[in-house]
Amino acid sequence: MSVGIPIRRLWPEPSTQQLDDAALTTLYGRADEPRLRVNFVASLDGAVTLDGYSAGLSGQPDKRVFGVLRMVCDALVVAAGTLRHEGYRAVRLDERRRAWRREHGLAEYPTLVVVSSSLDLDPAQAAFADAPTRPIVLTHAEAEPPPGLTDVADLLRCGTGRVDLAAGLAELHRRGLTQLLCEGGPHLLGALTAADLVDELCLTVAPLLAGPGPGRITAGDTAPPRHLPLRHVLAAEDGVLMLRHARP
Ligand SMILES: NC(=O)c1ccc[n+]([C@@H]2O[C@H](COP(=O)([O-])OP(=O)(O)OC[C@H]3O[C@@H](n4cnc5c(N)ncnc54)[C@H](OP(=O)(O)O)[C@@H]3O)[C@@H](O)[C@H]2O)c1
Repeated sequence: MSVGIPIRRLWPEPSTQQLDDAALTTLYGRADEPRLRVNFVASLDGAVTLDGYSAGLSGQPDKRVFGVLRMVCDALVVAAGTLRHEGYRAVRLDERRRAWRREHGLAEYPTLVVVSSSLDLDPAQAAFADAPTRPIVLTHAEAEPPPGLTDVADLLRCGTGRVDLAAGLAELHRRGLTQLLCEGGPHLLGALTAADLVDELCLTVAPLLAGPGPGRITAGDTAPPRHLPLRHVLAAEDGVLMLRHARP
């Protein structure tokens, strides 16, 4: 089976061998403990978007790893801002990836978890309307859902006046969703960093200078710095780097 643009490991042990999906699955495998993994792509000069979207930064190797990360998680956590802006569709996996999940005793698809304070969400958006697994919307006690939202998603209310992310993640763990993959966006990463909830960051570095303008992968109120040691560095033949940093 063709794996497209070759990806190889640079660190800790450099290897000339191309990484197939099985090798990538081992490198990005599930953890024994509950874990919040965050995945982003950025330019060399730190931009989170190109022409307003992440797509311009992402290429085939990044999409391959992105697919593996989705395959191994229990739930896909995304902020409402990114869901709306990027026009999130229903979470789909191909048959090969669904088979992997079945073999590992997982639900066919990860559960989509949308983080929103305002609940300014469109129940007709494909991410909700076509979802193969009923999505969860993580919000707070006072948030008012728009008509139709509770027909297509379950509300998980944690916190008063604002979303209590720590309580929300703990409740997801209690529901058996322990391997959490967060696909952003920047304000959610900022809040997760402030609450010290980020266990891992998978960062793809696209080999281009986006120039001034776009924001970084993090935004919002200031937070204390958090140390995340390097776990591996992969390089794709088109010059893309894929870093995995995780807590000890
Ligand atoms: N390069 C990448 O890998 C990547 C990844 C993701 C996104 N992006 C880009 O990032 C941009 C979107 O960023 P954004 O500034 O809109 O940030 P965001 O974090 O995606 O969305 C912010 C919104 O999400 C909800 N939210 C986030 N954190 C929350 C919290 N702690 N509690 C409650 N609700 C929370 C709120 O929604 P409500 O307004 O509904 O309350 C908030 O207004 C887009 O341009 C997208 O393309 C890039």
